[in-house]
Amino acid sequence: MTSQTPSRRYARFVATGAYLPERVVTNEELGKLVDTSDEWINARTGIRRRHMAADGEMTSDLATRAAEQALNNAGLDIADIDLIMVATATPDNTFPATATKVQANLGMTHGAAFDLAAVCSGFVYGLHMADALIGSGKATRILLIGAETFSRILDWEDRTTCVLFGDGAGAVILEANDVADGDTSPQGILASEIRSDGRHYDLLYVDGGPSATQTVGLLRMKGKEVFKHAVRNLAQVGTAVLDQTGMTAQDIDIVLPHQANKRIIDATVDKLKINPDNVMLTVQDHGNTSAASVPLALHRAVEEGKVKSGDIALFEAMGGGFTWGAVLARW
Ligand code: UT7
Repeated sequence: MTSQTPSRRYARFVATGAYLPERVVTNEELGKLVDTSDEWINARTGIRRRHMAADGEMTSDLATRAAEQALNNAGLDIADIDLIMVATATPDNTFPATATKVQANLGMTHGAAFDLAAVCSGFVYGLHMADALIGSGKATRILLIGAETFSRILDWEDRTTCVLFGDGAGAVILEANDVADGDTSPQGILASEIRSDGRHYDLLYVDGGPSATQTVGLLRMKGKEVFKHAVRNLAQVGTAVLDQTGMTAQDIDIVLPHQANKRIIDATVDKLKINPDNVMLTVQDHGNTSAASVPLALHRAVEEGKVKSGDIALFEAMGGGFTWGAVLARW
């Protein structure tokens, strides 16, 4: 009769992993391809370089490498994982899900694997889903990966988009953390909010697809419009997750934002009144890697000791759809 029943099951972060393709493409190199310059790209976006997948290197390959590192860092075996989610807008094939390829690459024959399509918000959507699945008892340990090969869907003659994106993958493992009544500082996801508004399709989309054109298509974006929506939407979800927990901007130890543009990150952090020193920036080295950008930033933050046990972390992202979301977690 004295045994204590858990009051809530949290989704706790166990470990991270990352993989970036070997080839680095600098702004100067892009200047030989289209009419642009390091000065313009850096001033408008903060990007200096990005990684690009080699011929034949696919999203599932990047995802598998990041997943292997996360498993290794966690000291876990694939047998310990019961679900794989891959957030991606650049799957290897129209079907099957890239996640099932990763599952096969990792030698996993139990459980389930599926892809999640929310473009740049995919990883944050994935955290929201992982929290729901772990919290409800439908999963115990989830491997969540954000992986992209955006270089394959860029129009290399369009300077307004081709300079912005890069390839890469980041992975996290989340597991059930049963917290007893009275524990005031549980580790794990504390609050999350996901949003979308499909009316903005034409501001950021790929002009192809199996059902629409029977082709893969290329990325199209009205950057200035996306920029305005991004700052407003990110500030809105950031405020929403703080409100859910009763925390304030001063409680945040580290922000792990989607790395699309340094100016968007600065403006959002300013709007939320968060200390700019607490923001993890990788956009200069990776460009916008869509669903991979947040877990890549997280992995670097962990490696550099910028996120420590007990820290309060804010994740946020916005992308095509539009989709957007934020997650507040205790590391
Ligand atoms: O992951 C989520 C989705 N993506 C984003 O969040 C991206 C959101 N948007 C942005 O980051 C910015 O809007 C961009 C970086 C895309 C563009 O910055 P901007 O300050 O909004 O520039 P702009 O589009 O107003 O373009 C300014 C000028 C234009 O020339 P004119 O019309 O003023 O003569 C462009 O043609 O810069 C020109 N331009 C370039 N010049 C050199 C556009 N791209 C380039 C380029 N190099 N690569």
